[in-house]
Amino acid sequence: MPSDIAVYGLGVMGRNIALNLADHGLDVAVYNRTARRTEAFVAGLPADSGITAHYDLAALCAALRKPRVVFVMATAGGVVDSVIDALLPLLERGDIVIDGGNSHFPDTQRRWQALRDRGIRFIGMGISGGEEGARHGPSIMPGGDADAWPHVRDMFRRIAAKADDGEPCCRWVGDGGAGHYVKMIHNGIEYGDMQLIAEAWQLMRDGLGMSSDAIADTFAAWNGGVLASYLVEITAAILRVRDSDGTPRVERIADRAGQKGTGRWTAIDALQVGVPLTLIGEAVFARTLSSMKEERTALADRLGTPPIAAAGADATMLDAIRDALYAAKIISYTQGFLQMRVAAAEYGWRLDYGSIALLWRAGCIIRSRFLDDIKQAFDRDPQLPSLPFDGFFAAALRDADAGWRRAVTLAVQCGIPTPAMSAALSFHDGYRSAVLPANLLQAQRDYFGAHTYQRIDRPADSHWHTLWSGDLSEVRTDD
Ligand code: 6PG
Repeated sequence: MPSDIAVYGLGVMGRNIALNLADHGLDVAVYNRTARRTEAFVAGLPADSGITAHYDLAALCAALRKPRVVFVMATAGGVVDSVIDALLPLLERGDIVIDGGNSHFPDTQRRWQALRDRGIRFIGMGISGGEEGARHGPSIMPGGDADAWPHVRDMFRRIAAKADDGEPCCRWVGDGGAGHYVKMIHNGIEYGDMQLIAEAWQLMRDGLGMSSDAIADTFAAWNGGVLASYLVEITAAILRVRDSDGTPRVERIADRAGQKGTGRWTAIDALQVGVPLTLIGEAVFARTLSSMKEERTALADRLGTPPIAAAGADATMLDAIRDALYAAKIISYTQGFLQMRVAAAEYGWRLDYGSIALLWRAGCIIRSRFLDDIKQAFDRDPQLPSLPFDGFFAAALRDADAGWRRAVTLAVQCGIPTPAMSAALSFHDGYRSAVLPANLLQAQRDYFGAHTYQRIDRPADSHWHTLWSGDLSEVRTDD
């Protein structure tokens, strides 16, 4: 009997997706570049697993029902191109290639176009949820050739995570690289969420002098409220783990954060399309700064550190830190959704923001109760310009305002870096300001470069220049 789908690449993600597909009644053909990995994988499977191993690509492709569906789970970058090149001679017009890795969206856009020219339908599929998600239900963000989606929609909705209302976290996102773009934004938001939690942790540990257990209890309690999320939940669990001498394990983990690059791509694209994605940008930079361990240690010796007040756990300050975490999170998602809106116009996608919030409600790393609130905001107004324009989020920002400022003040007083929380507050203060000091910037630009400015008391389409080094008179430049 022909197989329903091929999985190319049997690293942990590929293996788990194959098992997940098979669990849902699909016949899965598997292949890996090195035969040993394939042998090891199938050796552990029962005879009726629904998974069939293949050791050459031609046999893999020949084993599939038509149109053939090949799901590629390979390291993002050139490897994906090589795999596609190897598959092409073995595929026919109408066959479907799916890239399930964390590919950079311009690569997906390019592959989609190139394969379309050859009559092959390409889907760039963002998949989130790590190993567990892949095995038991990831969040799935497919984009590319819309015509291919009806052929594979059912199988991927079957293996996707289900939200509490039973809805699968798997919906078509859009043309070309849209699926991988939305996955990239997911990862950027993931960086932001993680950084904010780390900042709240340091404020509690160093600003309030709280023990690891007390902080774990606090995160666990917060997980019962508006901050309920997978990342807050695992943080509480992490903080309770101790080494054999009783030291919290986290204190023995080197304080250098790694990154594979998806957060950096998000920040680079923000600069490219012109969106103030400050919080995620700071989260990326915070990881980079953390990796400068030698310099940090040397400067800590040389400059000393500001006095850190271990003021003792103060319930009102704990509430302030919670408010800061919540409000900054609202800003992070505000910025992320703004970026998707601008990118959609820039790259020609029609994104459905409520649907994207639905995709992220379960299965993925940023899953949270919060995403239901975002979905509801877009239900109330599908054209919502950004989250603070929604009544629920506006009220939440107002309620958290005083605590947010107190927490950032505590950080400043104690010399605790809170780049994400502080950047979020600065963005918020700028975004809700009718007046900013950009008029002075315009005057400076005009002074040194005759770049001209507009006047608030003249038509917006008129441009002016002051003869700064002359008689200070003003000339209209577009006459
Ligand atoms: C997910 C994760 C996943 C992976 C990140 C980690 O959604 O399942 O985001 O894609 O864990 O690539 O990224 P960094 O190595 O950059 O932290």
